[in-house]
Amino acid sequence: MNDLTTVVDAARTAFEQAQTPADLENSKALFLGKSGRITEMMKGLASLPVEEKKTRGASINLAKQGIESALNARRQALADQELQAQLQAEALDVTLPGRQRGTGGLHPVSITLERIESIFGSMGFEVAQGPEIESDWFNFTALNTPEDHPARSMHDTFYVEGGSEQAPNLLRTHTSPMQIRHAVQHVKKHRAAVEGTSPEGTSSQGTLFSGAMPEIRVIAPGRTYRVDSDATHSPMFHQCEGLWVGENVSFKDLKYVFTDFCRTFFENPDLVLRFRPSFFPFTEPSAEVDIQFPSGLLAGRWLEVAGSGQVHPNVIRNMGLDPERYIGFAFGMGPDRLTMLRYGVNDLRLFFDGDIRFLAQFR
Ligand code: DAH
Repeated sequence: MNDLTTVVDAARTAFEQAQTPADLENSKALFLGKSGRITEMMKGLASLPVEEKKTRGASINLAKQGIESALNARRQALADQELQAQLQAEALDVTLPGRQRGTGGLHPVSITLERIESIFGSMGFEVAQGPEIESDWFNFTALNTPEDHPARSMHDTFYVEGGSEQAPNLLRTHTSPMQIRHAVQHVKKHRAAVEGTSPEGTSSQGTLFSGAMPEIRVIAPGRTYRVDSDATHSPMFHQCEGLWVGENVSFKDLKYVFTDFCRTFFENPDLVLRFRPSFFPFTEPSAEVDIQFPSGLLAGRWLEVAGSGQVHPNVIRNMGLDPERYIGFAFGMGPDRLTMLRYGVNDLRLFFDGDIRFLAQFR
């Protein structure tokens, strides 16, 4: 029996000394493997007499069980150790401050657009949205632009696929096509109410409307495109169109509305405006609007911010309205430029580079 106790003790010691599961399996082989010590003892049974075989066999089995339970205990201990080490390595210090998620903000031009919408909203203007891919009709022809007008040239306008040669498609070069799109819808709706037809009806198509209707008072902000790129021009830029058409809307109203807008926008009641005679095919008379700050870095300089004018009778006709009854004004301004002036930014391209160091300053 003595030799068996020695073997069990030796196995225990070997298992205790194993520091990794691989070590342990190697030690196991020394005792329980094919030519391990217990296995060898079992083989030795064959040469014993029957009686002795029984008792010796039982003792070897007992020893084997002892070794197996020592092995399992050590396996468990090593597994626990490993788990502890892993938990330790992956421990989180829940008292450390968390990582902050960056707070975003509106793009400076979006801030301007919201500001424009809110100021004109307070004067009763609706906000209309329209397509950036436009037809030649809405972008030019309906706005009284002659066939040979330079704005139509390939040098200025991005033409896109999808139209015909007579009626090409293009990226809108201004927001003015929204004058026509919005007015046509407005007239359709109110004409149907007056004439008792459905807005889809064709009965009055082709004839100009001279009945009563609510005034058209709308702004249309959005992206516009031109073949142009330098510090003050980007091939994609923003415009905001304005249109007010009624029975008694005059140039005087344009001056009042636009002056009020600019003074509110720049929070400066002393801002001076100048309506400088100009030409646009869709207005007659036309004016460019310049502003001047009474003080500050830009004081004393005339800064152009918009084109404007009294809507041309041909444009009124293309809205479906009788120019003998309806008259109004329109303007188109550049929100990018307004943003540059408001914040003192000198390069338009900064707005569209997407550099977070620049943009974060407007949060
Ligand atoms: N569409 C013109 C442009 O892009 C700006 C403009 C001028 C708009 C006069 C108007 C207007 O509505 O009446 O340069």
